[in-house]
Amino acid sequence: MIDVALKKPGRPVIGVAGATGRTGSYLTSRLLNHSVHVVALTRDPNPQRLPEGINRAVVDFDDPNTISKGLVGVDRLFLAQGTSPDQVRNEIAVIDAAVSAGVSHVVKVSAMGPPTRLHPFDWHMEIEAHLAKYDIGYTVLRASTFVDILINRAAKAVVVGTWGGAAGDGRVNLIDTRDVADVAFSALLDERHLGTQRAYHLTGPRAVTMQDVADELTHLLGREVLYRQRTPSEQRQILIASGTSEMVADIMLGLDRIFHDSVLSETTDTVLQLTGRPPRSVESWLTENLSAFRS
Ligand SMILES: NC(=O)c1ccc[n+]([C@@H]2O[C@H](COP(=O)([O-])OP(=O)(O)OC[C@H]3O[C@@H](n4cnc5c(N)ncnc54)[C@H](OP(=O)(O)O)[C@@H]3O)[C@@H](O)[C@H]2O)c1
Repeated sequence: MIDVALKKPGRPVIGVAGATGRTGSYLTSRLLNHSVHVVALTRDPNPQRLPEGINRAVVDFDDPNTISKGLVGVDRLFLAQGTSPDQVRNEIAVIDAAVSAGVSHVVKVSAMGPPTRLHPFDWHMEIEAHLAKYDIGYTVLRASTFVDILINRAAKAVVVGTWGGAAGDGRVNLIDTRDVADVAFSALLDERHLGTQRAYHLTGPRAVTMQDVADELTHLLGREVLYRQRTPSEQRQILIASGTSEMVADIMLGLDRIFHDSVLSETTDTVLQLTGRPPRSVESWLTENLSAFRS
């Protein structure tokens, strides 16, 4: 929680719900180098997961009082909670508390995609609809699938030579979470966004198939990497046998279906428009993270 007495005029207080996460941690590191106050709203009482010097509010997202306390003095809010069945309830509670606390602008990470029953797309639609009930400023960042998912979905399996899935030859325009964070940075700090109500569709520079990813890994690793084509039921059996929960298996298979049908294959220029530079490519992300794919 920020000490309101220490607030400096002209330096907005940015609340970050999700500061220990993929997008939130990169955003937080950028904000800390800027002349703003940052408050991380986190469930974690252990300060080691956050950069030194950050204001920290330990929050129980099921207890609105703790959220309200954490938001005292906060002017603008970034919201990106990890995927869980609690996400709708918890993000809605944060939005409600933010409005009551007088937060003037909310930047929410959402998911690009069609109206669907698939999680987490339906969860984000519900949260967006709730946000739309309020007359405050907000920027909804409907991001395509994060390239970072390849760590969980592919890296270990690539190492042991069993990577595969039900994505077929479908294409997806994967985005680097740092690009999502860079757009969030602009939406939180550029005065032109403040008070507006906008949704942006964020993608990487071009769509790829899983076989394209395998081919790039083959090139980078100097050994053949295969993406084995499986049916959804074969993939489900493999996921469950490896200890994946039913809920996570459903989410992963839902994503495979979205990839298979090339639902997220469009390319937008939003990252370029809002940050002034093109989005990072899958190839450069693979190069930077190659050690995770090495045996
Ligand atoms: N993965 C994708 O391809 C993709 C694509 C588009 C949109 N999205 C959306 O992006 C958001 C996730 O962004 P991210 O990857 O940056 O987040 P993340 O790393 O998965 O998690 C962000 C933070 O959320 C906090 N959190 C609070 N309650 C949680 C709960 N019940 N379960 C898990 N985490 C919880 C955690 O922080 P504390 O422990 O500090 O509280 C965590 O560090 C999700 O809403 C997701 O649907 C994802």
